[in-house]
Amino acid sequence: MTEAQARTEACTTSKVAAPAPRVEKPEFLGFGLGLRAQHYSEILEGDPSVDWFEVISENYMVPGGKPLHMLDRIRARYPIVMHGVSMSIASTAPLDRDYLVALKRLADRAEPRWISDHLCWTGVHGKNLHDLLPIPYTREALNHVVDRVQAVQDFLGRAIALENVSTYVQFACSEMTEWEFLSELTRRSGCWLLFDVNNVYVSAFNHGYDPRTFIEGIPKDRVVQFHMAGHSHMETHIIDTHDHAVCPEVWALYETAICRFGPVSTMIERDDNIPPLAELVEEVNMARDIAARTLHGFDQPSPKPDLRP
Ligand SMILES: [Fe+2]
Repeated sequence: MTEAQARTEACTTSKVAAPAPRVEKPEFLGFGLGLRAQHYSEILEGDPSVDWFEVISENYMVPGGKPLHMLDRIRARYPIVMHGVSMSIASTAPLDRDYLVALKRLADRAEPRWISDHLCWTGVHGKNLHDLLPIPYTREALNHVVDRVQAVQDFLGRAIALENVSTYVQFACSEMTEWEFLSELTRRSGCWLLFDVNNVYVSAFNHGYDPRTFIEGIPKDRVVQFHMAGHSHMETHIIDTHDHAVCPEVWALYETAICRFGPVSTMIERDDNIPPLAELVEEVNMARDIAARTLHGFDQPSPKPDLRP
């Protein structure tokens, strides 16, 4: 068995992993956007005022082709972070070693500032359900997820970031709140938090709590990224559709979040009904303006070098 095989074996069978070492918090990248194929040309031909891009990892976990070529060109000009949707970190199924090997291979190529996924499960018994499914916030689940996060971090050789998902049900067996679970998870595993402000707003509305309580319950120094997105308000509940602009209530919550967490790399996440690039750049600049107004004198990231040939 090669060393790499031994590490993946350990990753998929480990029950008790060693505590992850505390690592330096990644730098503040400024205000970014989710990279979508519709905008490749506009990004490469223009010079949009976007500080960085987040890429969906699974879209580029392929041996070659146009997406990887575009990624190589865009990452030569902008910082990149990788965001996955299939790690299924909270599932009871073994970690998918093939997925992790492909993820690491992409990270070696794209050199992202960090790698994130979601605190959720996405499948079991070899089936990917392609949805971000909620978990009960129990001590048993916490121990389970901490072990798996540590195994993944050991395999990837870096701390990952995990995102709070939008939820529509709660478990009667939960023993703690979502923010208590996330706080313990980051403390024990050493992972960072990707704080989706819209998801907090959606879940708080659906379950009837104050989203500011969620923000106040998260440790100040563990949030490495914000997601901002739109949703569909159905009056009795909200669905996290990512097909609208960010609404005023979520912008107000963003202001509350940056008051607590300070300058955190922020990005606009749009996955459906995707508008022209300029429209999304306006939202990126909205975040930039709110941060500048709320956090007087914070350090903006230095302008990116122009690496175009
Ligand atoms: Fe998100």
